[in-house]
Amino acid sequence: MSDSVFVEGETRAEKYSSLLPQIRALVEGENDLIANLSNIMGAIKEGMNFLWVGCYFVKGDELVLGPFQGPVACTHIGFGKGVCGTCWQREETVIVKNVDEFPGHIACSTESKSEIAVPVFRKGKVFMVLDIDSNRLADFDETDKIFFQQIAFIIESLPK
Ligand code: SME
Repeated sequence: MSDSVFVEGETRAEKYSSLLPQIRALVEGENDLIANLSNIMGAIKEGMNFLWVGCYFVKGDELVLGPFQGPVACTHIGFGKGVCGTCWQREETVIVKNVDEFPGHIACSTESKSEIAVPVFRKGKVFMVLDIDSNRLADFDETDKIFFQQIAFIIESLPK
């Protein structure tokens, strides 16, 4: 295993292209889900330097904080609440250009300005929400959506 996830490259798309195979290699042969998720979040945080990179597990009628990198975060989010709960409810990626304009946004860090939340499915149901926060306004677009949906696909294929 490489001990570095440092990403060379100019554009964000190039960085993502470089990061994806590293993440696939990181989880190869490892069967522990929490270990794999922890390394995935670490690789993305190190490679992309977003404010917060992490996940929430669906547990009953709420989301509960999972492995993450960044400032401490809220631990429980209700169905349909905030950006993450909305992602779970809609079962689709939610991109928020300005978190202050998103009704019900849950502010874990005052530094967060924009956000993307991506559902991860198992047996056709959302079992996790991937969440990424940026300290820059309007930091996420279709390029990020495609990358994080690829990450979601990798997570879906991980051993449980
Ligand atoms: N902002 C999220 C809460 C999670 S933190 O950003 C890590 C939300 O509105 O659901």
